Amino acid sequence: MPATATLSRNASIDETRRFMQERLKGIVPEVEIEAKVELVYAINKCKREMNAVILGHNYMEPALYHSVPDHTGDSLQLSSIAATTDADIIVFCGVLFMGETAKILNPIKTVLVPSEQAGCSLAAGISAEDIRNLKERFPDAVVVTYVNTYADAKGESDYCCTSGNADKVLNKLIEMGHKRILFLPDAYLAANTAAQMKVPYLDSQSGDAAFAAISDDQPLVIGWNAKCEVHELFTTEDVDNIRRQYPEAIILAHPECSPEVIAKVDISGSTKAMVDYVRDVDAPQYALLTECAMGDNLAAEFPHRNMVRACTLRCKHMNYITLEETLAGLEKVQYKVELSDELIERARKPIQRMIEIR
Ligand code: 13P
Ligand code: SF4
Repeated sequence: MPATATLSRNASIDETRRFMQERLKGIVPEVEIEAKVELVYAINKCKREMNAVILGHNYMEPALYHSVPDHTGDSLQLSSIAATTDADIIVFCGVLFMGETAKILNPIKTVLVPSEQAGCSLAAGISAEDIRNLKERFPDAVVVTYVNTYADAKGESDYCCTSGNADKVLNKLIEMGHKRILFLPDAYLAANTAAQMKVPYLDSQSGDAAFAAISDDQPLVIGWNAKCEVHELFTTEDVDNIRRQYPEAIILAHPECSPEVIAKVDISGSTKAMVDYVRDVDAPQYALLTECAMGDNLAAEFPHRNMVRACTLRCKHMNYITLEETLAGLEKVQYKVELSDELIERARKPIQRMIEIR
């Protein structure tokens, strides 16, 4: 079932209002829509005049998500679009590591992230120095970093991956004969992916005895200790409560949730996998264990689908990206992503290798 139409960047203010009222009915209160119509119109006007493209991550709040981006999707989809856009300016309505990935893939463009505060607990959870120390301790290991990392961490890595292709990347590395895989920095994504692939997993802080117990001939995934501050809050009790209250719902969870939660849900998948599932698979009801804006965005985009909308967990970093900040970003051309040429060169290699595996 295709998504409904998107708002044209040439829409008049009346067309903008009608579109928002229709798309966001029952999802965003009418007073909020009315308060945001002029902002949306002003952003779309700026976008046209400045030859800018707006990329909106799946976690953007519904009024923004449905009204100003030219493209929506997960971090990887949006970065691929950034890599090939003709626009002069890329406004990344997402968090800083996503803007950095866009800059790394298309360095000649001006890339803006509309708030300087839009960080990420995973990206902040490991430094380039941490990775250098890990490489010293595990000199034979290949280093895979999740895209939720900053450019200097990527620059210390051999491969990148996303939650959508982690198993593919790891499988390829095992096929290539790698036995020790440092998978950084998300402890839960690493443990969940290893469990799904039936490969043993150890925390990098484990003692030498634990490592000695795993034969050198056997693949081993070695993790770090960072967690997503949003997804780590979902509990097995949350899953039990949803099952009790919404017995017909298919429960989908992001693999940044704990292994205990993932073991109890029906589907584990990236944000793109969740969008695809809700769009393509007929189910009586869907419950998402992920950042809450996503459930609202899918409820607005697929009104014929029955979404459980009981979630209250928002990512404060994603939440810093508002329509007001997006307009200010464009008008002042502010919060440019700046990276040195040398770092771009180093950080591009693991991303490029990941893209070649997909
Ligand atoms: P995606 O890679 O699915 O876009 O998710 C990014 C993220 O921040 C998940 O919490
Ligand atoms: Fe980072 Fe978690 Fe927010 Fe995603 S939801 S941007 S992983 S803090």
